[in-house]
Amino acid sequence: MGIEQLFGESPTFETNRLLLRKFSMMDAEDYYQIASDPIVTSQTTWERHTSKEDSIKYIQKVLDKYKRHEGFHWGIVYKSSGQLIGRTGLIRIDPIHNKAELGYVLSKDYWNQGIITEATSQIVKYGFSELGLNRIEAQCNVNNPGSYRVMEKLGLVMEGVLRKQLKIKGEYLDQRMYSILRSDFESEFEEQERLI
Ligand SMILES: CC(C)(COP(=O)(O)OP(=O)(O)OC[C@H]1O[C@@H](n2cnc3c(N)ncnc32)[C@H](O)[C@@H]1OP(=O)(O)O)[C@@H](O)C(=O)NCCC(=O)NCCS
Repeated sequence: MGIEQLFGESPTFETNRLLLRKFSMMDAEDYYQIASDPIVTSQTTWERHTSKEDSIKYIQKVLDKYKRHEGFHWGIVYKSSGQLIGRTGLIRIDPIHNKAELGYVLSKDYWNQGIITEATSQIVKYGFSELGLNRIEAQCNVNNPGSYRVMEKLGLVMEGVLRKQLKIKGEYLDQRMYSILRSDFESEFEEQERLI
């Protein structure tokens, strides 16, 4: 058991509505539809994609990160349509300290239906129960309630505000820092077992 297991097994996950699986270049068109939307990218550290070429370059980076064992993004496929509607994953994987950071984005058409929570809960569970992570963290802009509500619903707690932590679209912005520890996850799991 360990973080390297992730890159060896490239797991897929299935939930009620979703299939989570590795990215491929075939996803470029669907990903471009998501990443070219200015509403979606208004809160992201990265710039809006303005051509399909941007999405091809992005997916190549994702594929390189699988190879270098630096991060793992799962494409989120909506089962009933087969369309790629977003991504979620473990970024900045740190095997020395057994920690990783969450990152996610979703097509605007699917916001506020619990999709990212449904997808990312699989990743959190897998991170603690299979990869042996000790800490999973996540950050978002202080004015991005859609993102920090996801973190809260996943059981992460706010640790504080990192002042003017990132320069996003030309503006220095405060970031909320959240985390969940293995011990938090295990006590929550035990509590749920107790209630069953
Ligand atoms: C952030 C994002 C991934 C959330 O995905 P999602 O599938 O809509 O998330 P969920 O539906 O699981 O949960 C969203 C929660 O935020 C709440 N929310 C959304 N907008 C809100 C607002 N303006 N004020 C308060 N709460 C808000 C929703 O009500 C929901 O909470 P609830 O279930 O308690 O009602 C999606 O909005 C997105 O892709 N945004 C743009 C990219 C981005 O910000 N990525 C994260 C960077 S850190």
